[in-house]
Amino acid sequence: QMKMQLPPRPTLFDFHGVSMTRCFTDNWDNVQNFQARPDDILIATYPKGGTTWVSYILDQLYFGKMCPERQTSVPLHERVPFLEICIPSLPTGKDLADQLPTTPRLIKTHLPVQLVPKSFWEQNCRIVYVARNAKDSAVSYFHFGRMNHVQPEPGDWSTFLQNFIEGKMVFGPWYDHVNGWWKKKQAYSNLHYMFYEDLIEDSGREIDKLCSFLGLSPSPEEREKVITGSKFDNMKQNKMANFSSVPMMDQKVSPFMRKGKVKKGKMKSTQTLYQ
Ligand code: A3P
Repeated sequence: QMKMQLPPRPTLFDFHGVSMTRCFTDNWDNVQNFQARPDDILIATYPKGGTTWVSYILDQLYFGKMCPERQTSVPLHERVPFLEICIPSLPTGKDLADQLPTTPRLIKTHLPVQLVPKSFWEQNCRIVYVARNAKDSAVSYFHFGRMNHVQPEPGDWSTFLQNFIEGKMVFGPWYDHVNGWWKKKQAYSNLHYMFYEDLIEDSGREIDKLCSFLGLSPSPEEREKVITGSKFDNMKQNKMANFSSVPMMDQKVSPFMRKGKVKKGKMKSTQTLYQ
């Protein structure tokens, strides 16, 4: 197998008050001018909050039955494009989103709420936000930085943790992100705010809540299939969901699907932190 020449690690800079790298700002005007459609669904998270998990659940709920061939032939990150990503020699997330053949289009973003393209608000799109507690987010983000060459060099754990606390992370401080989106929910009713910890506790219950937000009523068999398919071990084995086709990720350093756990002794959900 030919080894791909990996580009140098990107560095952080301040962008509209948020730490970013060029991978998420180089296509900025096109991203900001993205034309959303009223039935688009935006999946928003701080990195490592459960984006892939919820993307997979939504994709299964909408297209698991209708387009079975997509499940085995199109990687999840193409079925649910990452809007702001822009890496040389790969299609941009914005172009992938524009070209999505499905209705609704499922689109992923890590942007803090104030940087979301305005079209999503104008079209009153449904948005699903997922939050995860800070400590597990930080640990997951650290290992992700080690294995993903699109991330800045994470350094050792104590350096990384200090940077995390100071918000010197791609997409800025964890707190501003979860809190900014939480505040938005008070004013924007088409936003469903969920928690990674609640999904761990009872994914069936959380899938039911999602369905009621989206106006979906899967049959008991379909519901069971989504619950089973989205279990950690099943997604980890699923080549279309585990990012194994992405050359910038070195899964020998750390797998993308690493542990998928809530640290012991953690409160039930992060909700109480910023209510
Ligand atoms: P860990 O690194 O703690 O294992 P994102 O998709 O936002 O990048 O988040 C990735 C994190 O979600 C990883 O956390 C990954 O293992 C976890 N994850 C992905 N799918 C999951 C699932 N089906 N069940 C539990 N955790 C999952």
